[in-house]
Amino acid sequence: MCGIVGASAQRDVSAILLEGLRRLEYRGYDSAGMALVDDGALRRQRAVGKVAALADALADAQAETPGDGLPGRLGIAHTRWATHGGVTEANAHPHASSERVAVVHNGIIENHEALRDELVAAGYSFTSETDTEVVAHLIDFYRRTAADLAGAVRAAVDRLHGAYALAVVSIDDPDTLVATRRGSPLVLGVGIGEHFVASDLAALLPVTRRFVYLEDGDIAIVQPKHFALTDFNGQPIERPVQESELSLEATEKGGYRHFMLKEIYEQTRVLTETWQGRLGDDGPLAAAIGPQAEALLAEVESVHIVACGTSYHAGCVARYWIESRARIPCNVELASEFRYRSPVVPKNCLFVTLSQSGETADTLAALRYAKALPSGAGYLATLAICNKPETSLTRESDLILMTRAGPEIGVASTKAFTTQLVCLAMLSGMLARPNASAVHVAQALQSMGSAIEAVLALDDTIAELAEAFVDKHHALFLGRGPMYPIAMEGALKLKEISYLHAEAYAAGELKHGPLALVDDDMPVVAIAPTDDWLEKVKSNLQEVRARGGRLFVFADENSGLKSGEGLTVIDMPHIAEAIAPIAYTVPLQLLAYHVAVAKGTDVDQPRNLAKSVTVE
Ligand code: G6P
Repeated sequence: MCGIVGASAQRDVSAILLEGLRRLEYRGYDSAGMALVDDGALRRQRAVGKVAALADALADAQAETPGDGLPGRLGIAHTRWATHGGVTEANAHPHASSERVAVVHNGIIENHEALRDELVAAGYSFTSETDTEVVAHLIDFYRRTAADLAGAVRAAVDRLHGAYALAVVSIDDPDTLVATRRGSPLVLGVGIGEHFVASDLAALLPVTRRFVYLEDGDIAIVQPKHFALTDFNGQPIERPVQESELSLEATEKGGYRHFMLKEIYEQTRVLTETWQGRLGDDGPLAAAIGPQAEALLAEVESVHIVACGTSYHAGCVARYWIESRARIPCNVELASEFRYRSPVVPKNCLFVTLSQSGETADTLAALRYAKALPSGAGYLATLAICNKPETSLTRESDLILMTRAGPEIGVASTKAFTTQLVCLAMLSGMLARPNASAVHVAQALQSMGSAIEAVLALDDTIAELAEAFVDKHHALFLGRGPMYPIAMEGALKLKEISYLHAEAYAAGELKHGPLALVDDDMPVVAIAPTDDWLEKVKSNLQEVRARGGRLFVFADENSGLKSGEGLTVIDMPHIAEAIAPIAYTVPLQLLAYHVAVAKGTDVDQPRNLAKSVTVE
């Protein structure tokens, strides 16, 4: 959802900005651009498409003016996921005003129309359809009277409604970058004799491991040898410099063809890391959520889970787990629906948000809505299950349970989903304690690593299977019980990266409509572990077979299902029921991956999508 990066240094920063953009590309890849201040001039280069197109444009500019091109010691850059205005070079960031000020922006300026009218009346002309261009002109307008760029940015943000992370440069302040945030993420990178800002610290790992996490309402004044933070009134603020433990390799492909494949394979390790140190003899330890969690969880009488996309599917699995294990009601809802619905909050209800990024706008807004409910009508506490530290979601929640997936860069979520499921399995055990199912969960989690390894051994078989999907236009995914949301997730993966239309149904619903679609052009994928639903699923599969459907079934090796006419059975290793939804996700991820590779689509950056959705 747009990535921004900026640098103020004593050396040329164009290569640093370009590498930063490559590392932020997961946030959007409609267009990219860079602006540098050099020798009293502002130079901009923008290109439609991915960062590689910008790199080519920069190289061309360099070739045209040898030894010159676009170097500069102060600069900002942007990779865009279009919201306001189409995918054109004119709408690409940075946006500039009077060839003096340039701005990059992540977020949405809600009052941009009113500001645009005002600025047009003041004599500014607009060259883009974006909401961001008003920010450039507004800062230019205030810079004419303000003492410095920071003063102009302060005056401008006072006029803005909406969400933003901004980085601004001006030729009148040739070594100063000013950055600020409200509602969109931003970190400041601390180097030696150079400082940086970025939407995500991963962008800056090649140049520093020391970061200051900026908070909403912070303004950073960034110079090569010095940086200062103030609030929107110009009052100084202190924030700690923190050392990141993230290695550079964690954000690179490491020999895999795609990030998605690397992340699928990493699941053996990260799923284990997610439960390690968090289990006791009588079940998952509430202390994993914090010292006060044990007493608090004991009071919980119901749970509301709110999330978007893949994270929502994890919540749907958790409903089965929490209700069956802890015997308390659990409601799961899409964040974008929840916040506009006036939900009734039951007594002693725990509000849980699930998010890989911790910055999804709808999930964050749902949390804020939940927290703003009047006391007596509100939630007992809020818990964020999140993969990224120091996010808006983790900062604003009462309790935090971190997944330990590490950086997930492929846009289609894989390991973030399965590590969420590990956390949710643990949460269900914590809520169930001290009953037997809590012990059962803890035991099953310990077999996770070997279960995933055994499933990954099916990779070649699944790659062959994928051939059957390449020339199809639609697919159905079926599951029952907690495997129904896993079917939803399998269908979503296939849609996202192979652009094949896929839908999931609870297998028992097939006869209520979707059976009408079944023919030999519609592959049907079913999930059949040995659980309480196996016999029912088998009957549902017969319904498909009887209508000439082509079935692909991921079944427990002891299920009794055998391949035959119209039916391909992929034998899965036997997996403990408590973790089966986690393990059965993996072959569906691999299936989507291999179909996408066979179709030649862009696996890591599927069209029209972005990993981190910071707009409503
Ligand atoms: C986007 C991503 C999805 C993700 C969803 C929620 O749509 O493309 O992969 O599941 O946002 O993201 P979150 O970071 O809140 O889990």
